[in-house]
Amino acid sequence: MTADTPLYDDPAFFTAYQRMRAAGSGLNEELEQPALRRLLPAVADLDVLDLGCGDGTQARWLATAAARSVLGVDPSARMLELARRHKNPLVRYVCATAEELSLPDASLDLVVSSLALHYVPDLPALMTRIAGWLRPAGHLVYSVEHPVCTAQHPMTGWPNEHDRTAWPITAYGYESSRSQRWFNTTVTKYHYKLSTHISALTAAGLTLVALDEPQPTPAAVTRQPDLTQHLIRPPLLVVAARKPTT
Ligand SMILES: C[S@@+](CC[C@H](N)C(=O)[O-])C[C@H]1O[C@@H](n2cnc3c(N)ncnc32)[C@H](O)[C@@H]1O
Repeated sequence: MTADTPLYDDPAFFTAYQRMRAAGSGLNEELEQPALRRLLPAVADLDVLDLGCGDGTQARWLATAAARSVLGVDPSARMLELARRHKNPLVRYVCATAEELSLPDASLDLVVSSLALHYVPDLPALMTRIAGWLRPAGHLVYSVEHPVCTAQHPMTGWPNEHDRTAWPITAYGYESSRSQRWFNTTVTKYHYKLSTHISALTAAGLTLVALDEPQPTPAAVTRQPDLTQHLIRPPLLVVAARKPTT
């Protein structure tokens, strides 16, 4: 993989990631998607952007839920190749990062993003651009890895401290890129404090509507025992915000 190759275009990483999603770790199915969908507005007749759309599963779901149009954006050509296998006249795809994307002002009713914005190096700048793309009363709903997870620097996982599994947050206040080994690849993510997520929204002129830190239910833990680790600290942050009507 060269420095310019999008992470999800690295063949070995892509294959390992697809295998993980096909196996269903439970994080997406049991926690992230239900939490995100609880915070979505009714999507009928909305013009929607799915930022970091991956293989297009959510973009297609939005079209099925009667969105007027869905634009799926992702920097990975491999991901978009999977997405484009499913033809849907309401959905189109663009290969770009969130940072590169350029859209007309006031052209969208809903921006949704699933587990992609922790790859964005300047979240406050992106929030300002998203606020510009939204029409009055438009919605933003997104999920990211929780700031207590990205706090670790580097993100090496769970250490054992005093015979107890622990999750260190000693670098929580230090906002910067984070490196993590994932599927034998060094992955770069960005850590933002919870307060930065909120202040980025409000500085962009958006109003916070809801915050969720979903954790597994007892039934989910029974189905997927690996989810027990997420009872110690929340793995995800889900945020809903809205642009004022005027
Ligand atoms: C964990 S996957 C999630 C994919 C999809 N949203 C889902 O939930 O199945 C993260 C996605 O974010 C994309 N991504 C990475 N960096 C990005 C960036 N800077 N802007 C937009 N998307 C990005 C990746 O290519 C990948 O498809």
